[in-house]
Amino acid sequence: MRMVDLIEKKRDGHELTKEEIHFIVDGYTKGDIPDYQMSALTMAIYFQGMADQERAELTMAMVHSGDTIDLSEIEGIKVDKHSTGGVGDTTTLVLGPLVAAVGVPVAKMSGRGLGHTGGTIDKLEAVPGFHVEIENKQFIELVNKNKIAVIGQSGNLTPADKSLYGLRDVTATVNSIPLIASSIMSKKIAAGADAIVLDVKTGAGAFMKDLDESKKLAKAMVDIGNLVGRRTMAVISDMSQPLGYAIGNALEVKEAIDTLSGKGPKDLEELCLVLGSYMVLLAEKAASLEEARSMLEEVIKNGQALQTLKVFLEAQGGDGSVVDHPETLPQAKYQFELEAKDDGYVSEIIADSVGTAAMLLGAGRATKDSVIDLAVGLVLNKKIGDKVNKGESLVTIHSNQEDIEDVRNKLYNSISISTNEVEEPKLIYATVE
Ligand code: URA
Ligand code: CA
Repeated sequence: MRMVDLIEKKRDGHELTKEEIHFIVDGYTKGDIPDYQMSALTMAIYFQGMADQERAELTMAMVHSGDTIDLSEIEGIKVDKHSTGGVGDTTTLVLGPLVAAVGVPVAKMSGRGLGHTGGTIDKLEAVPGFHVEIENKQFIELVNKNKIAVIGQSGNLTPADKSLYGLRDVTATVNSIPLIASSIMSKKIAAGADAIVLDVKTGAGAFMKDLDESKKLAKAMVDIGNLVGRRTMAVISDMSQPLGYAIGNALEVKEAIDTLSGKGPKDLEELCLVLGSYMVLLAEKAASLEEARSMLEEVIKNGQALQTLKVFLEAQGGDGSVVDHPETLPQAKYQFELEAKDDGYVSEIIADSVGTAAMLLGAGRATKDSVIDLAVGLVLNKKIGDKVNKGESLVTIHSNQEDIEDVRNKLYNSISISTNEVEEPKLIYATVE
């Protein structure tokens, strides 16, 4: 087989076979196929697209390009959740303990990564003593015992995706639905998921800003999952403004504690109940979505969800008392209020620039070597649709530096106030099964 012939075949709009796709992915991972040929192919895919079967083969070829995690010793159906980007998205911190409390095994492998705030692991490390450096064996034991554990990303997961994503990033081929869908799905499958719930964000703060594109991406991922024998469902949720109130690491841990106690932001709670219901259903712990939802509501009400968080934190060295005393989480030196300059209604909160403001405070990593400040971040006091009076606080800024002029300016530029009444945005646009 020659790579040049396969590039030509895709360029002319034909379908690649399973053998051809494996030849490409294996050759590229080994270094036998050079970047220039691979970039020609990704550009051909960008313009010609891929058929359902090609997408599934590409996904599985990437899964097998490196290690796969074997979770077979964990009892039950392992359901993973993935959110596509977003700002201050606290769903993972809430969902893990929430679904574990009704018996869904949560075996989470998580990373740090770049972004407005840290990854799930960074956030959890705001809890004194908590760590994810545990052996595989202990990880499996903990999931069987407590239904939830989190472990750091192992070295060699989907190396083909890693190289390919890097190449796409510099060849203007990131934004291709077959390539995004296979990239995301390969990582979930390699990490051992039997079933997958996807939270595809849409709106200004999301990777996919357009609803139709978000639906196409969701459907592409659901189709891949179902074709390769992993039941997959997707929810398309709003990211036109940040989810919940908190954006920052310790602040989001506190927000998760509030939500698991039934006292969190309504949008965050609702999205977690919707995503959680799908997870419970796919794990076959309930016969219907309605039943799943009432099980989840019950463990919030009776305290089991919060108790599960505490047990999970303590099992990995964390100080579980933060659950009852979130004020002992890392605190920033200063709290500043961003005061509204006009009376009116909040009409816009541009999620990604609010995220950038949080990053300026030190809540996230700009480069992979940046050091995160776990204490800092933002808490929104108003969301789209809320009435606001001049001088009232729009945002509380938790900072360890006194000079935050750039953060204030960034926030003023991302929040708009209108004199007319504004409707609250819809939270969930569609589900794809
Ligand atoms: N996120 C991923 O993991 N892969 C993509 O291709 C795009 C976003
Ligand atoms: Ca949040």
